[in-house]
Amino acid sequence: MFLQAVILVGGEGTRLRPLTYETPKPMVPLFGVPFLERTLVRLRDAGVSDVILASGYLPSAIANHFGDGARLGMTLTYVVEDHPLGTAGALRNVAEHIRGTFFVLNGDVLTSLDLRRMIAFHEASGGVGVLHSIRVEDPSAFGCIVRDAQNRITSFVEKPPRDEAPTDEVNAGTYLLERRVLDSIPAGRAVSIERETFPQLLGAGERLYSYVTEDYWLDVGRPQQYLQAHNDVLDGKLLLAISGDVLPERGTYWYAGSSGVPPNVKPPAYLGRDVAIDATAIVGPYAVLGDRCRVGAGATISDSIVWDDVEIGDGAQISDAILASKVRVGSGAVVTSGAVVGHDARIPADMILEPDARIVAEVNATPEQVSNV
Ligand code: GDD
Ligand code: MG
Repeated sequence: MFLQAVILVGGEGTRLRPLTYETPKPMVPLFGVPFLERTLVRLRDAGVSDVILASGYLPSAIANHFGDGARLGMTLTYVVEDHPLGTAGALRNVAEHIRGTFFVLNGDVLTSLDLRRMIAFHEASGGVGVLHSIRVEDPSAFGCIVRDAQNRITSFVEKPPRDEAPTDEVNAGTYLLERRVLDSIPAGRAVSIERETFPQLLGAGERLYSYVTEDYWLDVGRPQQYLQAHNDVLDGKLLLAISGDVLPERGTYWYAGSSGVPPNVKPPAYLGRDVAIDATAIVGPYAVLGDRCRVGAGATISDSIVWDDVEIGDGAQISDAILASKVRVGSGAVVTSGAVVGHDARIPADMILEPDARIVAEVNATPEQVSNV
């Protein structure tokens, strides 16, 4: 069966700010590779290589990287929204490219879901669509999917207060839909698939099914989850192709490219290419360093993600933090407790960041803590 996929990559990634001021959420790296590439490869490996990217926010960053998709052996079509059309409006907007049954994927989901099995489930159920569901401890950040014993969906409750959640099974952001679903979405305005389209389909008597699995699953759209994704891969909870050398004698650990492993790297950890670590610095456990990072004497980095070209000064302490590309951390600075530092930002020497600090480059001289971004 010929299947296409639409990946929703138009969100502004507000919860990942300031990382997403310059890098759209799908291009945020996961072990040296843009997150979206991991999703594309998963589709391709399941036989789905015709993909439409419904974008709107920083679309050229995506198109410049992936082009027509030939490098991945795929056909990519970009459709850019002038203004956000919502999760269903985005589908309506790409309708002219959809020829039949199609997948829809939220662009920020990391999962081991077997797409081929989902296709078989859909064919057996015979409904207008099937939604992947997953059980979570706290459904309040997700869309609850209520179903009957035959897996037929009976209602949707998007982002309920925790104590009002009708089930712990939530929308995992992968759908397989019949083309006629597009006919039910009004054109020209923002429409939410979760709040409008799916409930309306139920109201019209259409059958939607829930495909509940026990897969690895994570929405990486928030800083703690983005960190969690890395830790889970380092712990081997999700198998991901990672370039570089695996050093099993040191734990789950990758060293991409260069020769030799600094003795002061504590596994699990990941180092990109041409990383320079002073002999007295300690990197790891759970440190992920991008290409060309420099780590000064006596500095420590653990439980953190550091993108490319970052400089960590002597004696700086980095833990439970995310640092975007080209950040410079002055000597003795302390970047911990959920800090997220945006591209090119400078952290002055000896500065101690507040918990959950959000630092953007414009405020280098006096780092400003921006809450609730
Ligand atoms: N093209 C386009 N246009 N894409 C959009 C738009 C839009 O206007 N708005 C959001 N998206 C994309 C986002 O980029 C993301 O990939 C996906 O749609 C979902 O949006 P999020 O903003 O990440 O939604 P969420 O995480 O709060 O909730 C959704 O995902 C949960 C699972 O992760 C819902 O589908 C929930 O029901 C679900 O449980
Ligand atoms: Mg999300």
